[in-house]
Amino acid sequence: MSVHTEIKKVTTHTLQRMKNNGEKISMITAYDYSFARIFDAAGMDVLLVGDSASNVMAGHETTLPITLDQMIYHASSVVRGVNRALVIVDLPFGTYQGNSKEALASAVRIMKETGAHGIKIEGGEEILESVKRILAAGIPIMGHLGLTPQSIYKFGTYSVRAKEEAEAEKLKKDCRLLEEAGAFALVLEKIPAALAKEVAQELLHIPVIGIGAGRHCDGQVLVMHDMLGINTEFKPRFLRRYLELHQEITAAAQHYIRDVKSNDFPNEQEQY
Ligand code: KIV
Repeated sequence: MSVHTEIKKVTTHTLQRMKNNGEKISMITAYDYSFARIFDAAGMDVLLVGDSASNVMAGHETTLPITLDQMIYHASSVVRGVNRALVIVDLPFGTYQGNSKEALASAVRIMKETGAHGIKIEGGEEILESVKRILAAGIPIMGHLGLTPQSIYKFGTYSVRAKEEAEAEKLKKDCRLLEEAGAFALVLEKIPAALAKEVAQELLHIPVIGIGAGRHCDGQVLVMHDMLGINTEFKPRFLRRYLELHQEITAAAQHYIRDVKSNDFPNEQEQY
């Protein structure tokens, strides 16, 4: 007799229920099968195949260079490692801003070729037509406002956004527009905690996931390389490191080098 244990998959509805019940949502980026498996088995609610892959996987300075084909490669690897978590994939720069037909075509490729459960897209009013067209095709959308890294050359720096009244008002308007259009959730990046609190607790009914947006959001997201201490240079105030993997991996690599050079590895038991 086989014992069949049903895994309760996280859906966009699960996240809405979690917000309604005041249960915080955990989200982390993942770019490959092996880490996706670990995060999924650990109980992470959402895995984001972020275009931060451009930085942490490919070594580019910004998120702009990564292509749709490269995102699809990362996303399909992540999906193969997941049993329970919701998998959301960033639409990369240049694949949705041109017009809404192009945006839909990009989103459809992600859904068809990766098996992911939805897409994330940066921007508000400017991309609303694309948002509506993608949603009309039945593809769930997570919005992303505040510091939107694909616009880094417009902003000029990675500093906190929406500190001034005018930008905060525009952000709130964009939040409302995305919710009204039907986005299932929103990422708010690097904005004042008080503004994120107002959006999450007063303005919006959909879940708000923060990164550098304070503790009143409905959930939190971090880039896995930052959270695990694989990056040592990136130390923003909002980041909490849960491991110092850079040091641990360096020590392990040096140990291995020593063992190979001294002919300690492999030993008698480690050969055939
Ligand atoms: O690409 C990414 O990793 C992201 C997160 C920072 C939210 O968009």
